[in-house]
Amino acid sequence: MIRAIARYGIRTIPGDEKEIVAAFRRGEAIEGPAIREYEEQFANYHCVSYATATSFGRMAFYYLLRALDITPHSEIIFPALTFWVVPEIARCAGFKPVFVDVDAHTFNLNPALIEAAITDRTRAIIPTHLYGQPCEMDQIMQIAEKHDLTVIEDCAQAAGARYRGRRVGTFGNASFFSFQMLKGINTYGGGMALTNDSSVAANVRSQAEAEPLQTSGELVRRFISGLAARSLVSPKGFAWWGYPFGAAASLVTDHDFSKHFWERIRALERFPNSYRRQYSNVQAILGLRALAKLDEFNQRSRANAQTYSDVLMNCRAIETPRLIANAEHVFYQYCIYVSDPARAKRRAIRRGIDFETSHVDVCSSLPLFKEFAANCPHADKTAEALQLPVYSRLRTSDIERVLKTVMEVTSDLAPMSEPETAPRPEEFKSSIVV
Ligand SMILES: Cc1ncc(COP(=O)(O)O)c(C=O)c1O
Repeated sequence: MIRAIARYGIRTIPGDEKEIVAAFRRGEAIEGPAIREYEEQFANYHCVSYATATSFGRMAFYYLLRALDITPHSEIIFPALTFWVVPEIARCAGFKPVFVDVDAHTFNLNPALIEAAITDRTRAIIPTHLYGQPCEMDQIMQIAEKHDLTVIEDCAQAAGARYRGRRVGTFGNASFFSFQMLKGINTYGGGMALTNDSSVAANVRSQAEAEPLQTSGELVRRFISGLAARSLVSPKGFAWWGYPFGAAASLVTDHDFSKHFWERIRALERFPNSYRRQYSNVQAILGLRALAKLDEFNQRSRANAQTYSDVLMNCRAIETPRLIANAEHVFYQYCIYVSDPARAKRRAIRRGIDFETSHVDVCSSLPLFKEFAANCPHADKTAEALQLPVYSRLRTSDIERVLKTVMEVTSDLAPMSEPETAPRPEEFKSSIVV
């Protein structure tokens, strides 16, 4: 049987389907006790007082922005490299996004550049723990305290990651998470807002609970499309469509057709109806199961990343990801730099391995945000990064195959110049111990 490796894997737990059917049979798919239980367990996992489940991660952010008493029309600092929806939600809520450049090697907001962007209208910072790596929260919190700024952490890609021993999502005034299919916790959509502030939590809850319930039809469609996506990215499913299509397309173009499957970048003047819904009980049932497995799954992704780094750090054609000290990256993505990413990707898909060239948006140069455009050269550089499949579902033999492929397809590429402040190998290794 052919086995091709897609860029993404969807985390599921054996028995999820049975739980979904059972919840529908009991009449507890839409409303039921699992929602509160999931919120409580999610809050406990983070040692935070209040968690509120929402239709999307972005809606958790929207409710938080409205609950946190941030002066209307003020400026909010975002990393230049983040999912476009998040600054767009802030714009819809009446704020002005200000983009600050990232560190091209960690992909996260560069704390050294934040103060230069602060004006007397700045009220908040939204650090994104991108690709699963925590931001430098000590430095960000020091700046926030000095300038009396609210901090809302975007933990959509980093559930379970730690910074100085503490989970991300517990440093700022509040944080939000996503349970969209590709995320660390998959409940086929959904999000969570976390905070220790009881009045903020109550305000978020009243906004979330004022939304209409999902209908059974909406839930059924959610799971059917989720199950279809799962089979399409499975090694057997991908072998029948993504691999032949990608390999054939690579003969004529370097265009990444996957971009057409992503949510279209657009102004969100009026939120789609799907945003304006409550989280459902059946999703919370899956959330409870996924939360119990989160650390184990993260550990597997981390072990996969460790295997890659052990080998690839010695390849001159490849620059491996830089990890910050005292943090536990959960490797939602494993990003490398090579001198010719398009060529490496083209060669890899012909061998049945799907690399992605760029995943997140360089918001500082998106036409959508042209009125907030900023010069962020390091964010621009990240568009050249290459992402290797690293997800927890991969088998050891898959990881070996990805490694063999990446070395083959980059063997004749120009060597990468050493980053100016490259960590010594011992430092690099110790920060990724699994
Ligand atoms: C970094 C980041 N922030 C926020 C979100 C928004 O999450 P959701 O799709 O649940 O609204 C995502 C989702 O892809 C994300 O990757």
